Amino acid sequence: MIVTPEEPRHAAAIEALLDRSFGPDRHTKTAYRLRDGVAALPELSLVAIDHDDLGREVLEGTIRYWPVLIGGLTPSLLLGPIAVTPHWQGGGLGSKLIRMSLNKAAAAGHRSVILVGDAPYYGRFGFTRDLTLGLELPGPVDPARFLGLELVPGALAGAAGPVGRWHGVSPAIAAPEVALATAIPNRPRPASAAAGLWYAGRAAASPAAA
Ligand SMILES: CC(C)(COP(=O)(O)OP(=O)(O)OC[C@H]1O[C@@H](n2cnc3c(N)ncnc32)[C@H](O)[C@@H]1OP(=O)(O)O)[C@@H](O)C(=O)NCCC(=O)NCCS
Repeated sequence: MIVTPEEPRHAAAIEALLDRSFGPDRHTKTAYRLRDGVAALPELSLVAIDHDDLGREVLEGTIRYWPVLIGGLTPSLLLGPIAVTPHWQGGGLGSKLIRMSLNKAAAAGHRSVILVGDAPYYGRFGFTRDLTLGLELPGPVDPARFLGLELVPGALAGAAGPVGRWHGVSPAIAAPEVALATAIPNRPRPASAAAGLWYAGRAAASPAAA
């Protein structure tokens, strides 16, 4: 298993995993209004790749980030979507994707992150509701799920108003290379589980992705 920056050849498998995790109507959610027509930040968007017995790549996890602008003034990051295949859930892969990407974002000079997600999960990474109290999303969300994190202390202190789409300019500081996550031990995979796999770059050949 490795965690590595997303590449274009992973796109089909990522879409399939996200559809399976969130349902095909996920694009109607408010967070997608901040993503429409804007590219994810490639330097922060990571994939977790395993290999099957035949040496083929299997996408096991994805995390993406979008640039946003708060109140027309304050650049921030929108975390998500993040998804891990059922095969790997509960084994720490989601936490690893979040921590690695947040470290990368901080190293690259990004100052804050917002998201819409489950507070009991994201609280362990430092996300809180308090930091988004003055912010407005471009559609309905459960307020308890609108969370923020400061990568630089005080980064969201003066931020207020609507969160909008932004094509963004990446911070000038180059992000360090993501280390290979070789510490994640592989999980045995029965040959009969092939129908549940998601093949990065081979989605069209996978019965599960047809
Ligand atoms: C959410 C998700 C990315 C977490 O990935 P993961 O690899 O299973 O997470 P980890 O192994 O790092 O962490 C597991 C822990 O998070 C908890 N957890 C997982 N999803 C949670 C959720 N939605 N709310 C609260 N806690 C959650 C687990 O109970 C477990 O707790 P423990 O450490 O006390 O045992 C993964 O479960 C997933 O893809 N879910 C479906 C898609 C989804 O809902 N994504 C967005 C969530 S807002």
